[in-house]
Amino acid sequence: MRSSLHHGGNIEKVAADLNIPVEQIKDFSANINPLGFPSDLWNVLVQSFANIEVYPDPEYTELKKAIADQLKVAPNDVFVGNGATELLDEAIRAEKATDALVLAPTFGEYERLLKRQGINVHYYQLKEEDNFAFKMAAMIDFLKEHHEITIICLTSPNNPTGQVISAADLRKLTDFCNKHHRLLVLDEAFIDLTVGQQESFIDELTPDDRAYIIRAATKFFAIPGLRLGYCITKNQKLKDKLKVQENTWSVNGIADVFGQNMFRAKKYISLTHDWLNVQQPALYEALQKVKGIKVFPSTANFFLFKCADPDLREKLLQRRIMIRQCDDYVGLGPDYYRIAVKGPQDNVLLVNTLKEILGSEE
Ligand SMILES: Cc1ncc(COP(=O)(O)O)c(C=O)c1O
Repeated sequence: MRSSLHHGGNIEKVAADLNIPVEQIKDFSANINPLGFPSDLWNVLVQSFANIEVYPDPEYTELKKAIADQLKVAPNDVFVGNGATELLDEAIRAEKATDALVLAPTFGEYERLLKRQGINVHYYQLKEEDNFAFKMAAMIDFLKEHHEITIICLTSPNNPTGQVISAADLRKLTDFCNKHHRLLVLDEAFIDLTVGQQESFIDELTPDDRAYIIRAATKFFAIPGLRLGYCITKNQKLKDKLKVQENTWSVNGIADVFGQNMFRAKKYISLTHDWLNVQQPALYEALQKVKGIKVFPSTANFFLFKCADPDLREKLLQRRIMIRQCDDYVGLGPDYYRIAVKGPQDNVLLVNTLKEILGSEE
């Protein structure tokens, strides 16, 4: 039996257990932009506090327009929600399904959201010998054998493996979905936190595509506590179905104003790309020199690694470093760990501490 679902973060509880202040813990367990909240937007945020005395625009006209302009889609292709998770929930509810496919390993919320709708979950196992890379032809064959599966939840880049699914593969799958009346729910929560800024599949979407693409502002702009997500579809029937599931005023007035302005933080956006494009490959290289761990290739702002020591998380916690143990992911176990890419000093501290505990290959 699997242990119950948990997530990265939760640093307050860990600090309380260790009886130390939160600031003394280096949190590598949550995959959030280490540049923190974009300082150029503090003023906008503070001014938006006045909005707490009024209801947000239930249509979120300005917010949708800002997102649509950035993504080069029409404002009525855009849906917004209280984090990507709410949109995932609404997308799943919009399709009256009995069976769905999710990857293994992947982000645990899909399974929870599907099961609470009474939808059977079929796992599609990614293979460790392929470095957990996605093989589209084999997955389409699997779907051909399973007509009952009508929702396909994919994540690109996948959490916790960091692998991106190519646009060519996504096109093959979407064509299959359009022809066989299946629905693709594609979670791109981390696509803007990939090395070399990988393309979103939003650029390829057409009105025929039976696909919802879900994005998060939470990770890139470091606002998991403020919460903002968005979803794009160009398919009119899917838009109509999603509209029925939308919760009224689910984006609060502060997140609404933040979202209207977030893409204006050009300097922050470019600094984030600079940080990731340098620090992600540097951390990969450094981790490969730690004895006893196998780090899997990733394009995202986090890495999965394997280590035979099931107490590694505890040992790091004693040194005030928190990482994510992947024991609750279907298809993984206690000997897999995920770490976020942080700033250069923190990354060096992590690697040196791992070397102290496990030894070095050098
Ligand atoms: C793949 C993936 N999608 C979505 C989310 C949740 O995003 P949000 O905080 O915007 O709901 C997470 C959070 O870890 C995630 O890993």
